[in-house]
Amino acid sequence: MSPFLLTRTLPEDAAGAELRSDVLHGLTRTPKELPPKWFYDARGSRLFEEITRLPEYYPTRAEREILIARAAEIAAATRARTLVELGSGSSEKTRHLIDALLPGLDAYVPVDVSRSALRLAGEALTAELPGLHVHALEADFTRGLALPGTPGPRLVAFLGGTIGNLLPPERAAFLDSVRALLAPGDALLLGTDLVKDERELVAAYDDAAGVTAEFNKNVLAVLARELDADVDPDDFDHVAVWDREHEWIEMRLRAREALTLKVPDLDLVVPFEAGEELRTEVSAKFRQDGVRTELVTAGLELTHWWTDAAGRFALSLATAV
Ligand code: SAH
Ligand code: AVI
Repeated sequence: MSPFLLTRTLPEDAAGAELRSDVLHGLTRTPKELPPKWFYDARGSRLFEEITRLPEYYPTRAEREILIARAAEIAAATRARTLVELGSGSSEKTRHLIDALLPGLDAYVPVDVSRSALRLAGEALTAELPGLHVHALEADFTRGLALPGTPGPRLVAFLGGTIGNLLPPERAAFLDSVRALLAPGDALLLGTDLVKDERELVAAYDDAAGVTAEFNKNVLAVLARELDADVDPDDFDHVAVWDREHEWIEMRLRAREALTLKVPDLDLVVPFEAGEELRTEVSAKFRQDGVRTELVTAGLELTHWWTDAAGRFALSLATAV
């Protein structure tokens, strides 16, 4: 069996330094905000997996439906020998793609900030598919990636609609950096959630069982644990709103009462007024024209656009030109 490799590309305290910097900048600006990548410690990764099984959260089921229907076409179009997956999480849906790409597939390179998710997924895949090289990278996909020297053609998958969690300028920089990973003819497989009825969208981010609320508040638990922050997640309410102008969902945490969040290590005392909100995530929803334009701007040509039968979610295949 090929050994499962897990490489951490950042120095030991890089994540800690970045969290301190994000907290310092995000909580002292108006309006307050934190980047969504801090949701995903082991508990946050588990909560996200729970979200994917909620009746209201359709994106995972819709994307899985497309992957099952189109995996053979994707394999035929790309003939990939290396599959790189950014923000791979549990790699669960990816299994359909991996199965279709085998036996030509030589290596799978899952990339994620969540070490726990990489370990669980990588060890399971290595056990089940002994011929596949699984080389996991614990890395931030917005920070420039150094990929292992595995054989081409290369297919980079970015599933789940996670691209929607980047703001438009971040998306442009991100797509440029993905293009730089590809040789001409290599491909990007991109999952995007689509603009739809506001009620369906808001329900997906404010489920009846309250799992998304727990996921949202988990970022405060991360601050308490990693930075010794004095903050009680239960002093905040979960908020999910549709921003019609930007066509994105915003998740926020709203202070129930006036309170003070303290991070003594950073000499930081952050006052919240009653009702004041901290933005924790945007989740942009897309239209085909917008996706095509963003891809072209990055030097990628949209060759296939597939949706689920209900037209809720899209998978795009684009080649490097
Ligand atoms: N692709 C999976 C998981 C989506 S959840 C699916 O479709 O179900 C988003 C994943 O991206 C999480 O596993 C999270 O840890 C990871 N992630 C979020 N921001 C990241 C970043 N900046 N760099 C690397 N991984 C990131
Ligand atoms: C990972 N990402 C695509 C999810 C989304 O739908 O934006 C994260 C999430 N946030 C709340 N629920 C799920």
